[in-house]
Amino acid sequence: MNKNLLPEDKKKIDQLESYLDEKINYFLGYPVAFDFDYSPLYKFLKFPINNAGDSFYHGGSYHMNTHSFEREVVCFFADLLKAPENNYWGYVTNGSSEGNLYALYLAKRLYPKGIVYFSEEAHYSIEKNIDILGLQYQKIKTQITGEIDYSDLEKKILINAEHPVIMVANIGTTLKEARDDIQKIQHILDKLNIKKRYIHCDAAFCGAYAQFLTPKPYFDFSEGADSIIVSGHKFIGSPIPCGVVIVLKHNKEKVSSYVDVLDSLDDTITGSRNAITPLLLWYSIKYLGAEGLRNRLEECLTLTAYALTKMKDFGIDAWQNPNSLTILIPRVNKELQYKWQLATHGKFSHIIIRPGITKKMIEHLIQDLKEESYSNAQKEI
Ligand SMILES: Cc1ncc(COP(=O)(O)O)c(C=O)c1O
Repeated sequence: MNKNLLPEDKKKIDQLESYLDEKINYFLGYPVAFDFDYSPLYKFLKFPINNAGDSFYHGGSYHMNTHSFEREVVCFFADLLKAPENNYWGYVTNGSSEGNLYALYLAKRLYPKGIVYFSEEAHYSIEKNIDILGLQYQKIKTQITGEIDYSDLEKKILINAEHPVIMVANIGTTLKEARDDIQKIQHILDKLNIKKRYIHCDAAFCGAYAQFLTPKPYFDFSEGADSIIVSGHKFIGSPIPCGVVIVLKHNKEKVSSYVDVLDSLDDTITGSRNAITPLLLWYSIKYLGAEGLRNRLEECLTLTAYALTKMKDFGIDAWQNPNSLTILIPRVNKELQYKWQLATHGKFSHIIIRPGITKKMIEHLIQDLKEESYSNAQKEI
């Protein structure tokens, strides 16, 4: 196929590869693992595969798909997140933004008059999805750690007590990796006698490892979640963004509908769906298993502790939420922000330790932070 490419086009492709090969060495600020090797799956790029429809629906007239792999991925995450054995459903999304949209859509169909509550530190996709769905909402203050402010939540729910509650809990906020506690949230709902409630947990980064933390965050299905989203390209790692949304089957069944043209159920946000990402995730979960995820977490926690200690030794005012893989440092200047691809917001920049990061990268960053430019930037803040 590429025999018709012009020499400059071929050069452009080579340049992109060199550019990315270089940039990956300075990739410290975003929560995506990059230690994967999916080369055994390259051969599937020759097929026009598409996972349109519901991978749990038996039937369907589009057979060029990876539905059976997608089902296994969903089952793996449902098990990890303690979903009730015969009462879960899910699919592989384009990422957590889409998973949040799906969960809010489901909640809206169950409770059209519901008000969505989410914290100021929730991911920007929450507010956008609420806007798309035309839902009412209340934004809740956060504590200094980034965890939701439970007293503000209680106050705001009380004012709207006649409306159902659609709660979005953060299980790892984007900037500080703070985790809301859905046990405390449920106590508030019980106290205010809110019966019509839906709790969605946005566990984009942490969802793949939170079950292995001690103490374990309170967020899974056995603890009261109605839906959970986990990104696939974050802690697990994938060259294509993806996520897995898990919901309770009895809820989903109230909203899905049959479509003749596919001979399948239309219960996903998009029609055509990626069939490669379920394959990538399947490969990873087979390769790693739950034990592999636990080991990855242990390695990352060790490296985070190392990075934090080193930074403090060098006088950098670094901190983290307990048991998190995210280190916050005072806002770096633009030069360092771009060099190290550091997500920066308000007073902070953050470094996220995930599989693929090495000690050498951390040491190189610390060297750069010690440079005068960073000390100057700290003084200016
Ligand atoms: C808490 C949280 N939710 C949702 C998202 C969106 O995830 P995705 O990039 O998979 O759409 C992110 C991304 O960083 C996030 O941190």
